[in-house]
Amino acid sequence: MHQKSIILSGMRPSGWLHLGNYIGALQNWIRLQDDYRCFYCIADWHALTTEYAATEDLQENIREMLIDWLSAGLDPARAVIFRQSAVLEHAELFLLLAMFTPIAWLERCPTFKEQLRQLKGKEINTYGFLGYPLLQAADILAYRADAVPVGEDQSPHIEITREVARRFNHLYAPVFPEPQALFSEATLVPGLDGRKMSKSYDNYIALSAEPAQLKQSVRLMVTDPARVRRKDPGHPEVCTVFAFQRIFNSGGLAEIDAECRRAGIGCVQCKDLLAARLVEHFGPFYERRQEFLRHPGRLDEILEDGNSRARKAARATLEKVREIMGL
Ligand code: TRP
Repeated sequence: MHQKSIILSGMRPSGWLHLGNYIGALQNWIRLQDDYRCFYCIADWHALTTEYAATEDLQENIREMLIDWLSAGLDPARAVIFRQSAVLEHAELFLLLAMFTPIAWLERCPTFKEQLRQLKGKEINTYGFLGYPLLQAADILAYRADAVPVGEDQSPHIEITREVARRFNHLYAPVFPEPQALFSEATLVPGLDGRKMSKSYDNYIALSAEPAQLKQSVRLMVTDPARVRRKDPGHPEVCTVFAFQRIFNSGGLAEIDAECRRAGIGCVQCKDLLAARLVEHFGPFYERRQEFLRHPGRLDEILEDGNSRARKAARATLEKVREIMGL
């Protein structure tokens, strides 16, 4: 029988997610579950590479993100959902890969240079932070993944992973596929104020928003500033509500575009249409979330089960790797 290709991806546990995170990554992960053998990793060690001094929220952040994953439709019956630090094989593989990975590959990684500059106040000139992409390579290679769904920003890390895999295969024996990056369509989700949606801008819609909050958020969205009166024609290309229609209401898009331009439909009406679509899409997420909050033990069970399935897969790879490396 033809084996399904293997997918691995991960997120640092930064707590609850917003619609930008969902459209940028999670929605893609959910779709992939149908056709691939998927491993989805809560990358808590990666969180420590920059947040090693502030770990008091880590457990809560892991839990919040896990609830969002499950509520949105990651399905433990189809995907292996697990915590990185629960699978020690990642650390072992990280160490073994470190033996033959040139420091220069890590030092010249654009995300490394960029972050050192951006996080100036933080002391991240550390061994662990330099190793960030190599730890990610270990995450991916531990499952001999064929493909890695990520945003474009992660492409240097996938490139390093491919180089490391190639070097291993060349030095020892062909064990690792060179994983492909699967970039999700670059759909930028604007925040309520029209800037990029971000927790730090306070312009987000949380994935866990209840229907009433969704409606309220849509009410707050900025529209075309030139459309002051109801009878003024609008310019969808500058309107945040329209940007959302594009993402969540593609079926009704052509009509909304035309009606807005000829002032056939007003902003209030347009917002009502959008709010209805959001409630339709995210209402069930909210319901599922309530279910998990009522049965918090379910979360631990799901994670325990995922951890043990991940361990089993990673262990098989590591047994091979150890043997080939003469250990
Ligand atoms: N570095 C990724 C990010 O910041 C998160 C991550 C950790 C990851 N391990 C991974 C992504 C393995 C893909 C594969 O988004």
